[in-house]
Amino acid sequence: MDRLSKDFLLGKLKGEAEKPLEEASSLPPGIYTSEEILNLEQRQIFAKGWLCPGLAADIPKPGDYLTYSIAEQPVFVMRCTDGEIRTFSNVCRHRMMQLLEGRGSCKQVVCPYHAWTYNREGQLIGAPDMKRSKGFDKKDIKLPEIRTEIWHGWIYITLNDDALLLEQSLSELDKLVSRYKMAGYIPVAQQNHVWDTNWKLLTENFMEGYHLPVAHRNTVGAWFPTEATIFPDETFETFTYQTFEKTGDAVYGRAHDDNQVLEGKWRHTSVMPSVFPCHMYVLAPDHFWYLSLRPRGVGQVDIRFGLALAPEVMAALDDKDKFIEETLDFFDIVNSEDRTVVEGIYRGAKGPLTEPGRLCWLEREVHDFMRYLSQALNG
Ligand code: FES
Ligand SMILES: [Fe+2]
Repeated sequence: MDRLSKDFLLGKLKGEAEKPLEEASSLPPGIYTSEEILNLEQRQIFAKGWLCPGLAADIPKPGDYLTYSIAEQPVFVMRCTDGEIRTFSNVCRHRMMQLLEGRGSCKQVVCPYHAWTYNREGQLIGAPDMKRSKGFDKKDIKLPEIRTEIWHGWIYITLNDDALLLEQSLSELDKLVSRYKMAGYIPVAQQNHVWDTNWKLLTENFMEGYHLPVAHRNTVGAWFPTEATIFPDETFETFTYQTFEKTGDAVYGRAHDDNQVLEGKWRHTSVMPSVFPCHMYVLAPDHFWYLSLRPRGVGQVDIRFGLALAPEVMAALDDKDKFIEETLDFFDIVNSEDRTVVEGIYRGAKGPLTEPGRLCWLEREVHDFMRYLSQALNG
C-alpha cells in the first residue's frame, strides 16, 4: 500500500496506539506530511476540540480583546461591557472582512472595510448609507457567538456544541493543578511565532522529557533529573501530563519563600499538562509558560507562547522589567533549541527512507497523544 495513503497512515496510527508503550513505535512519517491527514485533523480535531487562545488575565478590562482562529474560522475573544468573556466570529456580516487583528482594546468593533460597527456584545449598531437597502435593520444582525469557558484562568473556546463541559472533561486534571492557584499568576508576555514543522511534531516534542538533557543541556535540561519524572497510572481521553522535580540549583521552577499555597515536594515540583489537542503548559511553583498551536498548512505551525509569574514572585521583584527581559531571553534560547529539533524532524519526515523508531518510557505522553489522535481520526 502507498505509504502516504490516508488508509495506510490511519491504520498504522491505530496499530501503534493500541500497542502497550513498551512495544510501540513512533508514527509513520507520512502522518506529518500528508495534506489529507491535515484536512481530516481540521475537521475532526480543531473544529471539535477545546482550543486555548490565552488567559482571562490577558484581557482584564471591558473592551480588551485578543484574536485567534478555530480551524478556518477567525474569532475574537472580548471582555464585554458586563465583564464576561465572550468569543465571536471575527468576520464582518457585510462582506466578510476580518474585523480585528492581534490584541488590543476598543469601545466598539469597527470594520476596516466600510465601517459597519458592532458593540462589544457583537450586535451591529452602525452601518453607513444603508437607508436604501430595503428591510435592512441593524437589530437583526449580530456576530455569531462561540462557546467559551474559563478554566483556572485559561480561556477555552470550541465550535462544538456537543463538547463536554471542561469541569467534566478536565476534572481529574483539576485535582492535580488546583493546588498551584494558577488563575492568580500574572501574565508578562504573549508572543506569536511560525515554525516550519508539522504541528504534531511540536506537540510531541513538548510532551517528552527524553530530549531535555540532550537538546536543552545548556538550559532547562541542566536541572532535570529524568528519573524523577512521574506519569499517572491511568490514561485520560482529553489530556495527559507528567510531573517532574527541579533540583536545588535550578534558577526557575522552585517556590518563592513567600509562596503560601504549596507544601512539601510540591514546592519544587512542576506539572506539565497537555490538554488535547494543542494546549500545553509547564506549571511550576513560581511561573508557568505555555504553547497553543494551530496548523498553518502541513509544514508550518502557528505558535502562541505565553509566560506568567506567580504573584509572590512578581511582588518581590525590585526591577520587574529587567527580570522579565532576562526570563524571556532564557525562554528564547529554550524555544530556539526546540525549533532546531522540530524543524529538523520535519525535514526527516519527508525522506523516502525514513521509518518509525521505538519509543522510550519517557515518551509516555507521546503514546497517549497517539491514542487521542487515533480516537479522533479513526473514530
Ligand atoms: S465588509 Fe465590513 S463593512 Fe463591509
Ligand atoms: Fe524541548
